[in-house]
Amino acid sequence: MNLRRNTMSVKKIRQLIGDDGEYGWIANQLTQIAQMYQVYESAQNEIATKLENLDAEFELNYNHNPIHHIDGRMKDPQSLVGKIKKKNLSPNVTAVKNNIFDIAGLRVITNYIDDIYTVEKLLSQQDDVEVIKRKDYIEHPKASGYRSLHLVVRVPVFKAHDVESIPVEIQIRTIGMDMWASLEHELRYKTDVDRAEEFADNLVDNADALFAIEQNFQDIHHAL
Ligand code: GTP
Ligand code: MG
Repeated sequence: MNLRRNTMSVKKIRQLIGDDGEYGWIANQLTQIAQMYQVYESAQNEIATKLENLDAEFELNYNHNPIHHIDGRMKDPQSLVGKIKKKNLSPNVTAVKNNIFDIAGLRVITNYIDDIYTVEKLLSQQDDVEVIKRKDYIEHPKASGYRSLHLVVRVPVFKAHDVESIPVEIQIRTIGMDMWASLEHELRYKTDVDRAEEFADNLVDNADALFAIEQNFQDIHHAL
């Protein structure tokens, strides 16, 4: 499918309202936000391609795919606005770029627990990738039971006239951890607070049980 996206045209908006007329600020703000999203999406593509290439190399050399699949999402404008408010940031693109690191997000779902750290190592050792944040919620699961490895990496994006170093948030987790996180997320949004507490212990137990099963599967995989 050739998807034609309904992207905005900076040129047409400028022609329509001009830079410094009454509506000039709209053109300026929209342009800055759209340009920001565009460059973050490029960074997301750069990292996704790196991950796909690493996975293909593994398949060729070891007949094993560390990566089951990759999901990507750009933070939607309403969540971005929510986070700007929550963090009390000045309402400008520079403040956003300096303080919010999950505008571009990738979720890497691996086949086994080991694969999570393999993916991390192979990606972070690349010369143009810099890890700026790391939270290991597998080593230290959250009280909810949540497990995942969270990284924020910076990658250069080569533009027409300059290079920008852009952060991408990467959550790396196994199929079991992903299944748990999706269900728990759904429950959290569907259930009222009182009932959620009722399920909390059960959710932690289930997270632990899933982890134990995935460890067993990994042992079998290694033994084969
Ligand atoms: P944010 O402002 O939310 O990014 O907080 P933070 O920087 O402390 O990030 P954190 O490491 O807590 O991870 C945030 C993201 O991880 C969330 O947006 C979720 O996608 C995921 N996450 C973290 N904790 C949980 C959890 O208990 N359950 C589920 N389902 N997802 C979680
Ligand atoms: Mg986040």
